[in-house]
Amino acid sequence: MEFKIGNSGLVKVLYFFEGNDILGVSKELKEYVNENKLFNGKRGEIFSNLGPNTENIILLGLGKESEVSLENIRRAFLSLGKCLKANKVKSCNIEIKNFDGLCYKLTAEAIIEGIINVTYNFDNFLKDKKEAYDCEVFFEVLENKLDHVEDGIKEINALMEAVFMCRDLVNRPANDIYPETLANFAKEELEKVGVEVEVLEKKQIESLKMEAFLSVARGSDLPPKFIIMKHLPNKDEKPIVLVGKGLTYDSGGYAIKPATGMVDMKTDMGGSAAVISTMYAVGKMNVQRNVIALVASCENMINGSAYRNGDIISSMKGSTIEVINTDAEGRLTLADALYYGASKLNPECIVDVATLTGACIYALGSRVIGAVSNNDEVYAKIQESADFMGEYLWRFPVFEEHRESVKGKVADLLNSTGPGSGGAITAGIFLEHFVENTPWVHLDIAGPSYSSSAWGTNPEGASGTPVKTLYNFVKKYNKK
Ligand code: BES
Ligand code: ZN
Ligand code: ZN
Repeated sequence: MEFKIGNSGLVKVLYFFEGNDILGVSKELKEYVNENKLFNGKRGEIFSNLGPNTENIILLGLGKESEVSLENIRRAFLSLGKCLKANKVKSCNIEIKNFDGLCYKLTAEAIIEGIINVTYNFDNFLKDKKEAYDCEVFFEVLENKLDHVEDGIKEINALMEAVFMCRDLVNRPANDIYPETLANFAKEELEKVGVEVEVLEKKQIESLKMEAFLSVARGSDLPPKFIIMKHLPNKDEKPIVLVGKGLTYDSGGYAIKPATGMVDMKTDMGGSAAVISTMYAVGKMNVQRNVIALVASCENMINGSAYRNGDIISSMKGSTIEVINTDAEGRLTLADALYYGASKLNPECIVDVATLTGACIYALGSRVIGAVSNNDEVYAKIQESADFMGEYLWRFPVFEEHRESVKGKVADLLNSTGPGSGGAITAGIFLEHFVENTPWVHLDIAGPSYSSSAWGTNPEGASGTPVKTLYNFVKKYNKK
């Protein structure tokens, strides 16, 4: 799909707020539409008149004018994309207008994001591939806004490429994406956009004494990888450190999951997919902000040397952990990655992203990212980015009892806090122990990372959450 400035498309797209007069079509067509109540302008509503001997127009509803927002524009234009695709429209013209409070660049980006979503397919494993849909979309825009719209086209193309990359990584099964292939993918794709990638092998991970990470990895025949990705355009600037959970499969270990809960655990590397893809967009747009991403990648499997429920293990930090539940493995891998970031990289702040707890889904529902943070300012920046990009985010409160419940009796920490303890919060508090007072935000994406049904502008399967939020956060960090 190609977006460009011009007006040589074959189909004209006209969009209207709810209840507004239809302009730009013939008197006859307008009367026909109105008499038969065929179009009212509700968000995402479509009326099309296409083909030989027609006016070749599509009417698109934007919803109520008082509710205009980037997210409503994205969702409305997703409907347009579906209509273009269903009718195999090869080219169209869209005028970029100025909405109250929204600039031309952002409006163009929201329009493109909505439309381009219909081109995402995950058909890597199908013998008969889905038919690819291509369309040339021409934007008509005021002469003095051309540059803005062109900047927007470039940026949203890079960002949606990253979102699609994240979706692919999460959708790919665990016999295809495992620590080695994940690390190779990061190296190949990120080096193309100037991000430096280093992969630490098991021996090096052992030298770093990442015992918590290594304990989880022990049950698998596949060796763990520690992936370090660096984008450092500025001299003497502390990096933002992004850490992604990279369990390429989570069987639960000896606390084995039932088959129904296990099939989707190929998606337990959703956090790592998001940070790798964010680095891709950051590199491609050459965002002027130092960022380092870290992924401790392994599988949680069962064999004769797998860690057990009840084991007491150590960590890179030296804190000991009683493994109450081998299925609470994500926090163990993150503990060492967070401590590595906090102790070795002199970070400005740390953001970790993880498909961490079922409890988060119970608490907030499956569309919402749950957050735990030790810093109001950095958290506010993430919240602002999430709101701006249309991703749902909610911060959990933390009380004394949550902190108490991760403390152990025979080891320093417990990796699981049991039913009724606020599992999404206590998982976050466990992680906080390893960030060494660095300003930090933990994002639990167990719900929105992957879904059996489409929602918002997301397809079924992987959504690409929270690549858009992370990219925007990094990009805006130095502003204000
Ligand atoms: N990867 C899971 C969390 C998860 C659940 C992600 C559903 C996506 C969808 C995680 O490793 C896990 O198993 N967590 C346990 C923790 C418990 C044992 C303390 C959980 O949430 O049940
Ligand atoms: Zn688990
Ligand atoms: Zn897991």
